[in-house]
Amino acid sequence: MKVLVTGGAGYIGSHTCIELLKSGYEIVIMDNYSNSSPDVISVIEKLSGKAFPVYECDMLDYDGFGKIFKENKIDAVIHFAGLKAVGESVSKPLEYYNNNLTGTIKLLRLMKHRNVKKLVFSSSATVYGMNNTAPFREDMPLSTTNPYGTTKLMIETILKDLCFAEKDWKVALLRYFNPIGAHPSGLIGENPNGIPNNLMPYIMKVAVGKLPCLSIYGDDYPTPDGTGVRDYIHVCDLAAGHIKALEKLDRIQGAEAYNLGTGKGSSVLEVVHAFEKASGKKVNYKIAPRRPGDIAECYADVSKAKTELGWEAKYSLDDMCRDNWNFIKNQK
Ligand code: WQD
Repeated sequence: MKVLVTGGAGYIGSHTCIELLKSGYEIVIMDNYSNSSPDVISVIEKLSGKAFPVYECDMLDYDGFGKIFKENKIDAVIHFAGLKAVGESVSKPLEYYNNNLTGTIKLLRLMKHRNVKKLVFSSSATVYGMNNTAPFREDMPLSTTNPYGTTKLMIETILKDLCFAEKDWKVALLRYFNPIGAHPSGLIGENPNGIPNNLMPYIMKVAVGKLPCLSIYGDDYPTPDGTGVRDYIHVCDLAAGHIKALEKLDRIQGAEAYNLGTGKGSSVLEVVHAFEKASGKKVNYKIAPRRPGDIAECYADVSKAKTELGWEAKYSLDDMCRDNWNFIKNQK
């Protein structure tokens, strides 16, 4: 089976490509390298021992996108490509709606034209909004608090409507919780440029001395130690979940949502302490005011993915911190 991976050079995309190749799939990577690097391609080839077509192409380039389908017999698509910074989406909503929505609609039109009707979509736990109580279940009411999250929810809606109109589509909507960790080789991982928005990349930059101090956004939440609780999941567990979803597609009717998390919540302070233990480095931090839009607790009910996909997370928070340190300590 040949799988087109949009955003395949990205953090989750690259780890999933390695897993796909290990599992015997053929892949085609499409990426515009706006939040990734062509260097990752050679690492995927090295770690998998396989070669595959790569297209530097933007989702909005309909002709370039179409060329991929003309030149390759695609059987299914895993769709990662998209802008994903929550804060940036608030200041640049048009860019987010155009890129993520128009780009996805172009993809779906090309898939329909080529009669490719199997899709795994990279969604997010952010669609559970602020009005649900953890653990979050797939059947809970959905809402969003920022344009990034709204693009994810709108794409889920587009896919559900498409599946209702055309019964031969098979779609898995994978709602990621908080992806961290890195490939055990230490050769790929998450290392965003500039000041990171997310917790783990920020902790890593403090540990290696690139940033002076972590601000912990609030220690007065109704949680065990007062800091925010999230469901951190190893990126390799996430990658494995995509393979399970791909395998399930033939037995899915329409569009089905699955939580990809561990089902366990960890606080900011627990993550800081786990990283200090894994790295042997002190992580300087100070308590800062709460970040607007943050909720106290966000973690998954993972029973549906376990029973329907036969998937569950294997790695612990200590494993995630070990692999994050093993990756970042080698970065320039
Ligand atoms: C985690 C915890 C912060 C940074 C976001 C997106 C979500 C998904 C995952 C894409 C919170 C605290 C953070 C810092 C801190 N992305 N924190 N200091 O907000 O749970 O989820 O990333 O799908 O859509 O919303 O992740 O890593 O930003 O925050 O104290 O410098 O760490 O308050 O409690 P979040 P995060």
